[in-house]
Amino acid sequence: MAATIKTYEEIEKMRIACRLAVDVLDMITPYVQMGVTTEELDRLCDDYTVNVQKAISAPLNYKGFPKSICTSINHQVCHGVPSKRKLKNGDILNIDVTVIKEGYHGDASRMFIVGKPSIRAKRLVEIAYECLWIGIRQVRPGAYLSEVGAAIQRYAESKKCSVVREYCGHGIGCQFHEEPQVLHYRNPKAEELVLQPGMTFTIEPMINAGKRQVKVLPDKWTVVTKDHNLSAQWEHTILVTHEGVEVLTLRPDENQTDLVF
Ligand code: MF3
Ligand code: CO
Ligand code: CO
Repeated sequence: MAATIKTYEEIEKMRIACRLAVDVLDMITPYVQMGVTTEELDRLCDDYTVNVQKAISAPLNYKGFPKSICTSINHQVCHGVPSKRKLKNGDILNIDVTVIKEGYHGDASRMFIVGKPSIRAKRLVEIAYECLWIGIRQVRPGAYLSEVGAAIQRYAESKKCSVVREYCGHGIGCQFHEEPQVLHYRNPKAEELVLQPGMTFTIEPMINAGKRQVKVLPDKWTVVTKDHNLSAQWEHTILVTHEGVEVLTLRPDENQTDLVF
């Protein structure tokens, strides 16, 4: 199945689901403190999604995932499973939230810094954020999707970081993961897709401070760097518009004004 073009009605539903994902991340932000467990963060997010938003946490039971959000700490790359582990000073973590409302998905993640980070941790978090936005800046109708990954890889490697290849961004809509696959690196063998207004997909580069290689822990979910160096990731869900791009999970204090088409 190729990338779908969403109708106006579908786009309206995507906007709503994406807004809810942003609201969950905003809600949880003040709780991300030293001493809190990732399981407590998971409960707070799920309660809010279910009881306040009257929506569904997409990760729960997705392919057997046991929790409602993903929490990936330090050298964990993605799909970290919330647990009794307490956050401690200097931890960096990604919280990834996906909400389903009226059948449509909104997917976003952010990095959080607990207490005082090391200089290299802070630098990695900033580089990963810049990678996300460099990817977003490639999006406009008529562009090749491959430009997103190529630009991200170029920037990450210019900063002596590496890009994870085993996991990618994805089309999103009534399915959590739809076509196309959004690679965050250059792959000359990947099929060329020309972006068209109405496509919705995520960009979510996983950037490693050391080598790009990763492995999955025995819990079958948590992905970690093989060399145990830090990893960071930010994610937005975006819509290709006639003018360029609309970031559906933009947060109120983030702005799109530096986008140049
Ligand atoms: N939210 C993740 C993504 O960005 C996927 C999590 S799948 C899960 O695509 F099963 F781990 F929840
Ligand atoms: Co995603
Ligand atoms: Co996500």
